[in-house]
Amino acid sequence: MGNLVEPKRTVPWMKRRAVYPGFFDPITNGHVDIILRGLRLFDKIVIAVLKNINKEALFSTKDRVAMIQEIFVHQPDIEVKAFDGLLVEFVRRHKAKIVIRGLRAVSDFEYEFQMALMNRQLDPEIETLYMMPSVNYSFLNSSVVKEVFSLGGSVKGLVPEIVEKKLREKLKQERLSVGK
Ligand code: PNS
Repeated sequence: MGNLVEPKRTVPWMKRRAVYPGFFDPITNGHVDIILRGLRLFDKIVIAVLKNINKEALFSTKDRVAMIQEIFVHQPDIEVKAFDGLLVEFVRRHKAKIVIRGLRAVSDFEYEFQMALMNRQLDPEIETLYMMPSVNYSFLNSSVVKEVFSLGGSVKGLVPEIVEKKLREKLKQERLSVGK
C-alpha cells in the first residue's frame, strides 16, 4: 500500500470512544455543541481538561472539571478527567484512538494542523477528527467570554448557566479582594 495507511478497524464502530481535550477556562456553549455532536458518533467521550501548571487560568483545574461534570451530570457517556503531560499518553491510557477538536474559522487552522500532525508523529495510531460548531458559536472562545463578562457585558446563551454563575462569583470575589 506504499505510504497509505492500513484501513483496519481496531475497535468495532459502535464501541468507539473519543477524547475531547482542552483548557476549558471556562467551557463555553461552543465546546458543549462539539461534545453533543461527538456523542452522535461515539459511544463514550472522555473530556480531558489540561491542568494549569504553566498556563495562567481564571478557574482552578478542580473548578473547571467540576463545572463540566455538573453540565453533563445526566449524561453517562461523558467522563471528565484532568490531565497533564502528553495528550497522546492520556488518549492511550483511556484506550481511545480518536481526538475530537472543534474548528471554528480559518484562523484556527494553522495551530490545529500543527497539533494534529505532532500528535500523529507521536502516535500514528491516533487520529484527530475536526468538527465545526454551530454557526451561532463560530466567533466564541473562552477568552472572549472572560473579557466581555469582566467588562460588564452579557454572556447569556454563550456559556452554560453554571459557568455564568461561577463567573459572577469570581467577579464578586475579585471586587472584594480589591476592596480589602
Ligand atoms: O483549549 P486549548 O488550549 O485549545 O487546548 C489545547 C490542548 C490542551 C489540546 C493542547 O495544549 C494539548 O494537547 N496539550 C498537552 C500537551 C501535548 O500533548 N502537546 C503536544 C501536542 S501539540
